[in-house]
Order: sequence, then C-alpha cells, then structure tokens
Amino acid sequence: MNKTSFRLDALESPDRYKLLSGLIVPRPIGWIGTRRSDGSNNLAPFSFFNLVSSSPPTVLFSGGRHPDRPKDTVALAGETGVFTVNIVSEEVAQAMAVTSERYEADVDEFAIAGLTAVPGTVVDAPMVEESPANLECRVVEIVDLGDQGVSRLVIGEVIALHVSDEVLDGTRIDNDGLRAVGRMAGNTYIHTRDRFALP
Ligand SMILES: Cc1cc2nc3c(=O)[nH]c(=O)nc-3n(C[C@H](O)[C@H](O)[C@H](O)COP(=O)(O)O)c2cc1C
Repeated sequence: MNKTSFRLDALESPDRYKLLSGLIVPRPIGWIGTRRSDGSNNLAPFSFFNLVSSSPPTVLFSGGRHPDRPKDTVALAGETGVFTVNIVSEEVAQAMAVTSERYEADVDEFAIAGLTAVPGTVVDAPMVEESPANLECRVVEIVDLGDQGVSRLVIGEVIALHVSDEVLDGTRIDNDGLRAVGRMAGNTYIHTRDRFALP
C-alpha cells in the first residue's frame, strides 16, 4: 500500500484539522448544555468528545477558541463546574447544527433552535428535552492542551442520566430507537442504522 507521510508539526493548522478529523471517524457528538451566571442557557455541539470510562463514569470534550474568546461552553463548564451531554438523534440533528453557529456570548441557543430546556436534576445545567437521552455531569478536571491555551480538555463525571422509555429495554439501549448520528469530516454526518455484528 503506497502511503503519503506527514509530520504533524510541519502542517498548517487547517490541514492538521482536515487530516485528523477526516481519519478519526465517525466521532460521537456531545451536545453540551451549560448555564451562565445570569441563569440563561448555552448549548453547542462538540465532536472532540467521547466516553472514556464507565467506572468511574467519565466523558470528555475539548473546545478551542472563537476569534475573540474561548468557546463559551468550556468557559462556563469551568466557572460552574457542571454540564450536560445531550444525545443527538436524527430528529434533532438540524437543531444541533443551528446551535453550532457563532452567536454573541449571551445568546440562548435553545431559543434560537426552538428547543426546550429542562433543568438538570442534580446539576445546575440545562438539558435538551427533545434529545432521546441526557447525561448530567460534574467537571473533574480541565486540562490546557499545548502551551498557547488554544484548546482545553474538559473531563467530566456522569452523575445521572435520563433515557427515553422508547429506547430503553431494562438497561439495554435500542440502537434503532436511539437513531444517534455521528460526525464525519467537514459538514458530513453518519446515521447509525447500518450495523453488523462480530462474534
Ligand atoms: C458537529 C459539530 C462538532 C463540533 N465539535 C467541536 C469541537 O469538538 N470543538 C470545538 O471547539 N468546536 C466544535 N464545534 C464548533 C462549536 O460547536 C461552535 O464553535 C460553537 O459556536 C461553540 O459554542 P459556545 O461558544 O457556546 O461553546 C463543532 C461544531 C459541530 C457542528
């Protein structure tokens, strides 16, 4: 197999992004809800996101910067110590994309995307009612990536979760009911309907 090789430190940032985000696919999407100090809500998707342990139950996501400020989600998770993760199903994928646009720091993305914010039951952060499942999380640690403060990794412990009865069978999740979507390169996404089993 002929392969072209790249040294990551010799690449321009957009090329690094294109190569890495095109290769590490599909990526799950953490749709992260946070609360501002004035009580208003913030919501944005992050595909640098994953479940990294179930014991302790741990998720993480990383956020970069807007041109003028850090991503609000990262800043607010740091300030409040909590966040929610909302599962992106096919039904809410369009709304998810709307919440990813860059708005002023005080805009409520729930209202803009026509979504219903439900208060967390154990953390003070909003959940997306229309998502088939929601995780309530407490920040465990925030790690600066690199020495420029460009990107920050937020590690969280899942304290509680809420799953629609339509996708729940005991503690087993029905993939067909969940209809989760993942992110591929750029603006492309993937359904989770075409699966296969490996013994
Ligand atoms: C599917 C998807 C995944 C995204 N993943 C990330 C990510 O992992 N890290 C990041 O910094 N921005 C990511 N973005 C962009 C943010 O969602 C966007 O910058 C948003 O405005 C951040 O909002 P905030 O300032 O309220 O945090 C993603 C956008 C989309 C559509």
